Amino acid sequence: MTGDAPEYGPNRQEEVYRRGMLEGEPPEFPVSYEDLEDRAREELTERAFAYVAGGAGSESTVDANDRAFDEWRIVPRILRDVSDRDLSVDLFGREVPAPVLLAPIGVQSILHDEAELAVARASRDLDVPMICSSVSSYTLEEIADELGDGPNWFQLYWSSDRAVAASFLERAEATGYDAIVVTLDTPKMGWRERDIELAYLPFLEGQGIKNYFEDEAFLDRLDTDEPWADPEASLESFIDCFGDASLTWDDLEFLREHTDLPIVLKGVLHPDDAREAIDRGMDGVVVSNHGGRQVDGAIPALEALPEVVDAIGDEATVLFDSGVRRGSDVFRAVALGADAVLLGRPYAYGLGIGGEDGVRAVLENLLADLDLTVGLSGRASIDEIDRSTVRRAGSDDR
Ligand code: FNR
Repeated sequence: MTGDAPEYGPNRQEEVYRRGMLEGEPPEFPVSYEDLEDRAREELTERAFAYVAGGAGSESTVDANDRAFDEWRIVPRILRDVSDRDLSVDLFGREVPAPVLLAPIGVQSILHDEAELAVARASRDLDVPMICSSVSSYTLEEIADELGDGPNWFQLYWSSDRAVAASFLERAEATGYDAIVVTLDTPKMGWRERDIELAYLPFLEGQGIKNYFEDEAFLDRLDTDEPWADPEASLESFIDCFGDASLTWDDLEFLREHTDLPIVLKGVLHPDDAREAIDRGMDGVVVSNHGGRQVDGAIPALEALPEVVDAIGDEATVLFDSGVRRGSDVFRAVALGADAVLLGRPYAYGLGIGGEDGVRAVLENLLADLDLTVGLSGRASIDEIDRSTVRRAGSDDR
């Protein structure tokens, strides 16, 4: 290594090969996404696996998200001195080691007892920002304690009870979260056939509701300060106020009134929505179809990315998720203009299989793969990955 940036790829390879060859210990966790998913299918309960793996309707959008990456191919270059690579990027004034964040994933207690606390420890260790979900299994304050001074963002499910929404925003800011991600594609859950077939909604067994049950504004909705004294009524109140399908653009002002943190809208798939978000004072968007969990038949998120970048990329932060599985996926999303990507299901499976160690292994493998993909493509930094580094499969279209 010649510079200060970590050599994620070579270091990881050396560690894995050394341990496997000299100590007879092959990697504990599957390396490929497909094997991770298979292991999770074996080890998780049927309901938990269905909840993570499943999507809306026929799951055509889940599949399309994955396939969309194959539409773009990397064009490697040679002889460009890539001995010293730097994957770091700046997100809202904070340097992070790679263009990767952990997507908000709710109800992680269905995957592992330590849930978000385990994810927070892996995130902190590697400095990869964690986006804490509103429907986390531990409170946002408990998760922030584990994250320490590591990068952390909070994801808001915008409650139809404005007092609850305001309270979440204020709690996140008071706790030291760096940015707010407001998810707007989920005022209600999509029609998820696997969950319907199993009649499974984890919230109704009391999972993922701790932020609500310990929130003053939420408790004001109940006739009691003891939500567990009458769990049925308390859970019903949660379901009632979880989302707000009546929101319109004018409501965005409310967010600004309740936080000074950067605000990013998640679930954007149309360039006009991205434009409007920025015109209305938002700081960025996440191009996402929620991993195909909301609208079956929706376009793959990657297809929406270039148009959104053309609309707002020079002025605002554009993040991307839905289908990121490997380093080459991160590369391609960055090439199409994403400032960073959110990793979803892969780390959820890592958590389910191996808790904190499982999440760390998934992240270390992804960073290693990304580092090698960047260098072997003839690029030494994330700024060098522009649209000229990819082309549409089978054409000279850039
Ligand atoms: C999610 N996602 C999600 N998004 C969000 O804003 N708040 C949340 O609480 C959740 N919860 C959640 C649970 C599970 C089990 C999954 C798989 C996903 C969506 C998530 O942030 C991200 O958009 C998708 O995971 C991206 O798709 P892939 O790459 O994971 O397929």
